[in-house]
Amino acid sequence: MNYRHAFHAGNFADVLKHALLVRLIRSMQRKETPFVYVDSHAGRGSYDLEAAGEGDSRARTPEWPEGIGRLWGRTDSPPEVADYLGLVRDFDLRHGNLTPQPRFYPGSPRIAKALARPQDRLELWEKHPEECSALRDEFYAERRVSVHPADGYVSLRACLPPLERRALVLIDPPFESQSEWEHINSAMDEGMRRLPGGTYAIWYPVSERVPAKDYLDALRLAGKPSLVAELTLVPKGTGISGCGVLIVNPPWKIDEEARSIVNYLAATLCLGQQAQGSVRWVVPK
Ligand SMILES: C[S@@+](CC[C@H](N)C(=O)[O-])C[C@H]1O[C@@H](n2cnc3c(N)ncnc32)[C@H](O)[C@@H]1O
Repeated sequence: MNYRHAFHAGNFADVLKHALLVRLIRSMQRKETPFVYVDSHAGRGSYDLEAAGEGDSRARTPEWPEGIGRLWGRTDSPPEVADYLGLVRDFDLRHGNLTPQPRFYPGSPRIAKALARPQDRLELWEKHPEECSALRDEFYAERRVSVHPADGYVSLRACLPPLERRALVLIDPPFESQSEWEHINSAMDEGMRRLPGGTYAIWYPVSERVPAKDYLDALRLAGKPSLVAELTLVPKGTGISGCGVLIVNPPWKIDEEARSIVNYLAATLCLGQQAQGSVRWVVPK
């Protein structure tokens, strides 16, 4: 477990994932009834972008300037992106940043907590001891938030079905290991068995070496409607050439919202001339 999200916080992948997460949470909240938010790979909860390149023996180039950094001063974003951006700006300001650059960036747990209503609950899972300790501190004494220092793939068994009968599950693994897709597949089997009507969002990297499409096609989704929103960059020969989010049981109109998000991000972030956003159904409605 070498992965540290701090190096990547606020990069293009976080921007895509978090803008979609805001839409998903807002959709869950169209109904008054409570829901539980399960974050299987929660990270530390929030990030100081000034420290993004520290804490490692390797020299790192911060990734946020080509992600949230590109959006920071913009006033032309569509409502779906503006909602996310407003939330991040508010988080940054409340943490005391008065400079023109972003400094404090919310991770997925902080985004979920910022939007949660009094009736909603958060179940946060993080396996790395240091990250989990930071996550615990972040949410110390906050009501309706549980932090679990354990393997996040267990969360689908442990947290589903919830008392509320409604759940949004974010699966956001580091993809360090070759077997990540297998873990996702087994966890999704469990999720589908326990809460077939739940909404599941799975982040994945797009790379030439590991074509996500093959894995998406092979996912056992029990015929549930599923769509993917992807942002692809100029092929670089090796490494990551984009990323996507698979949404199982997508809420009403999320396809339109996701399209607006990926198109804007492809045009706005510094992703190269061939950058593309796409939204497509893997299992149609
Ligand atoms: C991509 S980061 C999460 C980022 C976070 N979801 C966000 O959007 O702010 C992946 C996290 O998963 C953690 N991790 C790795 N393997 C795990 C496992 N099996 N169970 C839970 N957490 C794990 C890593 O320590 C890392 O903090």
